[in-house]
This record gives sequence, structure tokens and C-alpha cells, in this order.
Amino acid sequence: MRHLMNPLDFTVEELDRLFDLAEDIAANPSKYAHACAGKKLATCFYEPSTRTRLSFEAAMLNLGGSVLGFSDAASSSASKGESVSDTIRIISCYADICAMRHPKEGAPMVAASRSGIPVINAGDGGHQHPTQTLTDLLTIRSLKGRLGGFTIGLCGDLKFGRTVHSLIAALLRYPDIRFVFISPPELKVPDYITDQLREQGVDYEEVIRLEDSIADLDLLYMTRVQRERFFNEEDYVRLKDFYILNNEKMALARKDMLVLHPLPRVNEISVEVDDDPRAVYFKQAQYGVYVRMALILTLLEITV
Ligand code: NCD
Repeated sequence: MRHLMNPLDFTVEELDRLFDLAEDIAANPSKYAHACAGKKLATCFYEPSTRTRLSFEAAMLNLGGSVLGFSDAASSSASKGESVSDTIRIISCYADICAMRHPKEGAPMVAASRSGIPVINAGDGGHQHPTQTLTDLLTIRSLKGRLGGFTIGLCGDLKFGRTVHSLIAALLRYPDIRFVFISPPELKVPDYITDQLREQGVDYEEVIRLEDSIADLDLLYMTRVQRERFFNEEDYVRLKDFYILNNEKMALARKDMLVLHPLPRVNEISVEVDDDPRAVYFKQAQYGVYVRMALILTLLEITV
């Protein structure tokens, strides 16, 4: 039985197969409409979410399966003190696969070690968010036609943003990628990541101003300042509007640069940018459904 805790749990070849499957699902949805008939997905969300939970649920429904679960720790027995290990043992009796989001780093991993069904990490604290990374990679592969051979700017909260940590780890396995980390000094990418980049001889640069580097980028990955992970509100308020991508800054960028964002957006991308054809964050959310459909089929070992 396989789980997905970290984007590196799949090899590059396995990811290629997963993305091929996701693209086939996008092109032929009716072929897959009953693939999971009789199967159930449990979504166990101990932390707020719109996209991730609903896209998992939509994915399972699109495959003809059903869904059950909770969207908030307060409405689960966690509020009575139940451990994730006990909860997953119970969920294993009710469902065939589980997507779990938890504010504590490593909680889905603990659950996986006790689970009778595949567990998918749907975000654990500031640590990892592998299915967002699958979404990001599929979006890049589908819209750019390749994974590798580009300069990617990651901008915003690179310290607490788990989507950033997962995406960097995943991109390190593709050739010729240059990273530009754009953040205020307080929200820099963690040292363990830059240490790894140096060890592997990967080209990267850390800058503060988006305007100075936007012209070099093939991809710009914007992120929200992660309010819920700050220790005090004052720091959040000071940093929250550090970056605002608007049409003026977009005018400095290449004609084929793509703007991605895992969403939710707060102020970091002005709504005027939404009409720019280079803004692909809403398309990205659609790719998220296809890739989660492909993931559910893969972990349940269902072939169509
Ligand atoms: C991200 C997350 O939860 O980490 N959202 C998502 O799943 N699309 C990004 C965020 O909350 O900023």
C-alpha cells in the first residue's frame, strides 16, 4: 500500500505517468466517470481549506466514487482529544483512501503509519503540500510543454509557505532550473533548503525587490503571507503587503512568463492582473482536480 507524504515519494518516471494520466483524464473525462464506483474518499481536514478539500472531493465524485469526512478539527473527535492514529484506524473501516490536512508537521505521516488505507498528505503545517506540487508541475508541464530549462521566481512568504518548500524539492530533480527567491529578509527560504541547493550546485539567487528580477523569469510563483503561522500579528501586518503584483510590474515581464499562485490570494496579486493571459492561477486550480483524480486512481491501483 502506498501513501503520498512528500512529492519525492514518486520517482520522476512515476510522475510522468501520473501527469500523462491526468492529461488523458482532462481530454476524456467520460472514460473515467465510473472508475471509482463503490469507492469512498475520506477528507480529514484539521485546518481550513477551500481548494484542496473541494478539489479532492470533486476528483472522487468525477470518478464515480463517494466522499465523507470533516472540514474542521472542532467538528471531529480531535476536539475530545482523539489522536490522529486512532482517528485513521477508524477511518480505515469507513473509506478506501484518505486525504488529511493538519496544522502539525508530520501528523499525516503518523496517520499513514497506522492506516489500513492509503493516506495523502493534503498539507502539514509549514512543512509539505505534495498535491499542490503535483498541481503546479502539471500546470507547468501542460502550459510550458516541459519541466526543466527555466528560471522560476518564487515570491512572498518563502519561510512558512509549504507549497514553496514542496515545489522546490520537486523541481530539483529536473534539469537546468534556476531559482530566484524573492522575499523580505524575515520571510526568506529556510536555510536547510539553500544548503541543499548549494550542495547540489543548483543556481539560485535571493532578492528583495520583485521589479528587479521579474524580467528574467519564465515562471513567477506568487504566494500569500501565511498569517496563521506568525507568532505575532504586528509582524504579519508589517509584511502582508510587501508584494503586490500589478499590471505595471507585469509590463516588465516576458510575454510568455506565466504567473502561478496556489491560492487563496489576499493582496499579493491585484485583480487587474487576472485578465492578463499570463495569469494562469485559476487554470492551475482546474489542473488540481485532474491531477488528484490521477492520484486517487494510482494509489487505489485502478486502471481504466
Ligand atoms: C495553500 C496551502 O494550504 O498551503 N493553499 C492551497 O492548498 N491551495 C497555500 C496557502 O494557503 O497560502
